[in-house]
Amino acid sequence: MIKLGVIGTSWITKMFIEAAQKTTAYELSKIYSRTIERGENFLSTLSTNDVSIVTTLSDLYTNIDAVYIASPNALHFEQAKAAIEAGINVIVEKPAFSNPTEFAIIEELLASHPDVRFFEAARHVHQSNFKIIEQTMGELTQLQGATFVYQKYSSRYDAYLAGDEPNVLTREFSGGALYDLGVYPLYAAISLFGTPRAVQYLPTLLRNGADGKGTANLFFDDYNVTLLFGKSANSYLPSEIYGLKETIVISNIAELEEVKYYDGEGNADTISEKVADNPMIKEAQDFADIINDPVAQHEHYNQWFQLAKQVNQTLFDLRQSAGIVFPADELQN
Ligand SMILES: NC(=O)c1ccc[n+]([C@@H]2O[C@H](COP(=O)([O-])OP(=O)(O)OC[C@H]3O[C@@H](n4cnc5c(N)ncnc54)[C@H](OP(=O)(O)O)[C@@H]3O)[C@@H](O)[C@H]2O)c1
Repeated sequence: MIKLGVIGTSWITKMFIEAAQKTTAYELSKIYSRTIERGENFLSTLSTNDVSIVTTLSDLYTNIDAVYIASPNALHFEQAKAAIEAGINVIVEKPAFSNPTEFAIIEELLASHPDVRFFEAARHVHQSNFKIIEQTMGELTQLQGATFVYQKYSSRYDAYLAGDEPNVLTREFSGGALYDLGVYPLYAAISLFGTPRAVQYLPTLLRNGADGKGTANLFFDDYNVTLLFGKSANSYLPSEIYGLKETIVISNIAELEEVKYYDGEGNADTISEKVADNPMIKEAQDFADIINDPVAQHEHYNQWFQLAKQVNQTLFDLRQSAGIVFPADELQN
């Protein structure tokens, strides 16, 4: 069993713990919170008892095998770095890091800790419906690009409108639409199409300089991929991948509930499988398989690591194209 520690006491940590428990490969061992009280409140929402609440990283990184990090984005880097230095496997929520400088430091650190594995928790690319999309793309006659959409009004936007500065909508915490919901369509695009030769991001900025929504263009030699995402409005548009005459239509690029294939005559066929109630089970299982047998799973590991690196670089390039600077960038320059 992989002894698991977690950072973060919000709903996403609960969902990952439940997914990890469903795989039966993990055993929740420690919860890190800034206060014992919040840690205990969080523990009381779980169906597990034998767990320690800790308030320091050094206590967290003692006697565990892996940590799941779901803190605000800007904190991931220091928390992941400390874990690797302690020899602990790292599963970090998307987006793993604020910029390529941080990613390069982590990559170098991993090279000197060869037994430690590092994963970015991009749950959708592990789902079986994502694999179905990948396979079906291979059948399209001539790729013509794609439009991926993930725009959902955030409950935290209410707080922003009321004058607050929720972490996820601030540059201080490496937040904003691109570094939150934008990660899902971008991950899908890079995973399916590879690295674009150029990128451009047109954001709608909030009063604090972070992006509330936006449109990103990824330029490839023969086509473009357009991404629409945001946290300040709801969109009900599906996502699409284009062949010459055929089209793959995806109900939602992050949730992947329904995928349809339209042939050149416009006939539709549903090709998706029913999605699991908890969308994090597949990634939790994939990470456990690699931790438990790193040699056999080396190719998978390397593929996901390289994908995470490309996504990190492209997120940064998009952000630069829009002139959005994070404090995390300035600290390292
Ligand atoms: N994969 C997915 O579907 C999914 C969904 C949602 C979020 N996420 C990712 O999960 C991560 C966390 O997102 P979130 O919305 O849960 O963030 P959040 O609510 O702002 O913070 C998560 C946790 O971090 C701690 N925290 C909050 N503010 C902090 C601060 N100023 N300093 C130190 N710790 C602080 C809190 O735990 P304590 O108070 O107990 O210390 C809190 O429970 C992000 O990277 C996000 O992108 C992923």
